[in-house]
Amino acid sequence: MVELVLPNDTNQLGNLLGGRLMHWIDIAAAMSATRHSNHVCVTAAVDEISFLQPIRLGELVTLKASVNRVFNTSMEVGVKVFSENSLTGERSHSNSAFLTFVSIDSERKPVKSVQVVPETPDQIRRFEQALFRREQRLKHREETKRLWSEKGINKEG
Ligand SMILES: CC(C)(COP(=O)(O)OP(=O)(O)OC[C@H]1O[C@@H](n2cnc3c(N)ncnc32)[C@H](O)[C@@H]1OP(=O)(O)O)[C@@H](O)C(=O)NCCC(=O)NCCS
Repeated sequence: MVELVLPNDTNQLGNLLGGRLMHWIDIAAAMSATRHSNHVCVTAAVDEISFLQPIRLGELVTLKASVNRVFNTSMEVGVKVFSENSLTGERSHSNSAFLTFVSIDSERKPVKSVQVVPETPDQIRRFEQALFRREQRLKHREETKRLWSEKGINKEG
């Protein structure tokens, strides 16, 4: 997915708004998840996103999304973001993000999705690392639940 950074996408410094980039990341990942599973897919979680360097007004933003691994009803989608000065051709990697999407059926219930078949060395590496990240995510979710319940607070605060 390619976007052009326009004035309405920027802050007072002429840099791309973080929220706009997160929106584009979510859209690119959703398209990837939906095309893979042939079901509507919803965002269940987004891992930490770091902003490595500002993206400037007038630059092109290329988002490359791929389904790294399917678990059962959920899948990890990775999005790599590149910014490009279209006048000089200079291109740099500005962000990476991992998102978890869940395929849902017509009753809005999670539904199993087909597995990806990694072929290239990069796809195999992403497939293997996705399992580790899922374990970390689930561990973090359980730990947070435990701490919240110890303190007597629920999800709504
Ligand atoms: C995501 C959603 C469909 C999960 O439904 P649920 O009834 O909690 O389903 P389950 O607990 O059975 O979980 C389904 C899958 O989602 C995964 N999942 C759910 N929450 C997750 C989270 N926070 N992080 C990672 N994975 C998560 C589970 O691990 C499970 O994966 P698996 O089937 O591959 O093992 C539901 O919570 C939902 O609709 N959320 C709102 C989604 C939305 O509106 N997103 C837009 C942004 S607000």
